[in-house]
Amino acid sequence: MINIILCGGNGTRLWPISRTLMPKQFVKLFDDKSLFQLTVDRNSKVCDKKFIVSNAEQYFLAQDQLEENSTFLLEPIGRNTAPAIALACLALNKDEIVLVTPSDHLIKDEKEYEKVLNKAKELAKENNLVTFGITPTFAETGFGYIESVNQFDVKAFHEKPNFETAKKYLKAGNYYWNSGMFCFRAGVFLDELKKYSPKIYNASLNAFNNANKDEIIRIKYDDMLSIPEDSIDYAVMEKSNIVKVVPSNISWSDVGSFDALYEEMPKDKDGNTINQNHICIDSKNNLVYGNERKIATVDVENLIIIDTGDALLVSKKGSSQKVKKIVEEVRKNS
Ligand code: GDD
Ligand code: MG
Repeated sequence: MINIILCGGNGTRLWPISRTLMPKQFVKLFDDKSLFQLTVDRNSKVCDKKFIVSNAEQYFLAQDQLEENSTFLLEPIGRNTAPAIALACLALNKDEIVLVTPSDHLIKDEKEYEKVLNKAKELAKENNLVTFGITPTFAETGFGYIESVNQFDVKAFHEKPNFETAKKYLKAGNYYWNSGMFCFRAGVFLDELKKYSPKIYNASLNAFNNANKDEIIRIKYDDMLSIPEDSIDYAVMEKSNIVKVVPSNISWSDVGSFDALYEEMPKDKDGNTINQNHICIDSKNNLVYGNERKIATVDVENLIIIDTGDALLVSKKGSSQKVKKIVEEVRKNS
């Protein structure tokens, strides 16, 4: 099995930790390792090879954080996940089973993860597009929802519903969150893409054929630009009839916001994240991140305080989805 690792995103909801030049997947958030490194470590145990699809600008960041040689395909600009996955699949043997994973997620139960992957591999060998279903805990609108019928069978895939619909899905009980990982034969995915989004398929094929293929595969700018922008979720998963789901109780988080990050970080008895630089006076349940200088809190609760030396964020917990608005402001003013 080959692990296609997608790392093209910017993670604007973690500003100021995550920046265009240092996106969240490369920031050392846990145990002095980045989410990208944790992804590589976790999947090296279960996959024979890795194939990294990344933005050309992020190549050195990724390369720096790797210990072994890896295959790279570099995109001059991002066109979302459908083209990124298609380009990788075009470079592989069509029968090869691939495990597509984001580079910026956290999975804590690796034993269960291995079990779930074995089941996924089995279903992928039978020419299905396999998704990994996470039991939803709230009406998140930033995820895809998988409507399951029988154990592994899927009735429909619904990408990013509105809040009202998400609430209905949560209540119904037979919906999973889509984890954003996929397992299939490279050729099966390409056939489905060709069937449901032929423009993306044809433009990707052209871009791949025309690419520089030395040690690194480099797609040319104009070819990349000509590929319609879309995610695998809209371009294929919502339309395909061969989608399966493996329920995945793997302690998964997409670390998509500071609230999600707080949940995953180690904390002291007062619920504050552990930080040598935090001088804590009667404060509780705060996320305090920063290693540039001392950060002192007095009598405050449920705050998110992020200090990167050149920027400081102070936010109420529960409001961290609004952080992306800061990035819009920063861009407007720069
Ligand atoms: N190489 C490359 N090129 N990677 C990309 C590109 C691109 O153009 N665009 C996104 N990625 C990477 C991101 O870095 C991330 O690791 C992954 O692909 C998924 O993209 P996101 O932009 O984070 O997708 P999302 O979070 O909106 O939605 C997806 O993930 C959810 C779970 O976190 C969907 O699959 C949802 O259905 C799912 O619930
Ligand atoms: Mg995401």
